[in-house]
Amino acid sequence: MTTGTTRKVLLLPGDGIGPEVMAPVAELLLELAKRKVLPVEVREGLIGGAAYDKTGHPLPPETVSLALDSDAVLLAAVGGPRYDTLPYEHRPERALLGIREKLGAFANLRPAKLIPQLANASTLKPEVIAGLDLLVVRELTGGIYFGAPRGIVTENGVRVGINTERYSEPEIERIARVAFTVARNRRKKVTSVDKANVLESSVLWREVVTRVQKDFPEVALDHMYVDNAAMQLVRNPGQFDVIVTGNIFGDILSDEASQLTGSIGMLASASVGGRTGLFEPIHGSAPDIAGKDMANPSAMFLSFAMLLDHSLREPGLARSLERGVESVLGEGIRTKDIAEPGSQVVGCAEMGRRITRAFWTHHEKGADKT
Ligand code: NAD
Ligand code: IPM
Ligand code: MN
Repeated sequence: MTTGTTRKVLLLPGDGIGPEVMAPVAELLLELAKRKVLPVEVREGLIGGAAYDKTGHPLPPETVSLALDSDAVLLAAVGGPRYDTLPYEHRPERALLGIREKLGAFANLRPAKLIPQLANASTLKPEVIAGLDLLVVRELTGGIYFGAPRGIVTENGVRVGINTERYSEPEIERIARVAFTVARNRRKKVTSVDKANVLESSVLWREVVTRVQKDFPEVALDHMYVDNAAMQLVRNPGQFDVIVTGNIFGDILSDEASQLTGSIGMLASASVGGRTGLFEPIHGSAPDIAGKDMANPSAMFLSFAMLLDHSLREPGLARSLERGVESVLGEGIRTKDIAEPGSQVVGCAEMGRRITRAFWTHHEKGADKT
């Protein structure tokens, strides 16, 4: 039983499979509040295409105010083909960048850990992914996603698309500090991924990361070019502990890392740095399976576990939830993306019910306290 002040959590279901994967997690959160396990006030807001449809803007000011006034935000996914031709400012993805920026969530932690029960669900050989446990620390509010100049302009009658990769020393320094700090409580190894053989922004990145390491002598640092890192991730992922990298490289490498764990439907993330943490699965709105009750809600549950850990300081509840996910997988209950011969394939809603039930079993057994 938790004591203390009531915490505020904002739920942003978004688009596509977003509302489907959010539904069972929202239900669990409300039940935790109702049973007074967690003193929490639950709010819901609009983001992405859903917000654009209702208000004409993918990130309405009310959503930003609600987020800033919350202790944590849980976001499912945004985007979809219906919105792909909208002007850039109205696209659902713009809202995602906007909310990360407004919350000052510059550090995106994306853990890729193999749940042993899924060793055979991955498309990689079990011996390659055995013991996989890495963390991508992705810079989230800078780099080419935010750099100016940007846009599509016409020069001498020719249209040109422009984006700018830029990183300042303070931006690199603060993300490096996050990476070294988390590595201290892990296997004490940081691999900084860049493209310093070509890009000046990466030359500075490498220089600053090397300097910051001096404050963390117990953590080993190595550097790797991003193309090699992409290859090493599938060749021998066990060599990585913490990977620290910029916004776009982190986006790409974390999707690759997710597949090592079996499915992108398994990978959670925490975006931290500001007062309010933002928690989101790394997957998108999956238009190909939206509305079909086929999505894997595990990444959404595991993002909620990260929220419990990082923002609400409830590690016990977080562990029970992680164990809940593991035990359901251990029983051979699977969504389609992680099915294997002999497993029982269920839909998103049923998977959600099973995980919730398993959570309560672990919680009531007192697993929270161990
Ligand atoms: P995606 O992650 O939505 O889907 C990629 C593939 O993975 C699809 O085959 C999909 O069915 C599958 N998949 C994703 N999540 C799954 C889950 N939980 N369970 C089972 N299978 C799952 O990426 P995409 O197709 O490139 O993008 C679709 C839309 O989502 C685009 O509009 C994109 O901009 C947006 N997007 C949003 C976010 C976000 O909101 N955080 C992240 C990535 C992409
Ligand atoms: C992610 C997504 C987003 C990103 C897009 C949808 C803006 O791919 O969260 O990984 O690139 O950050
Ligand atoms: Mn992505």
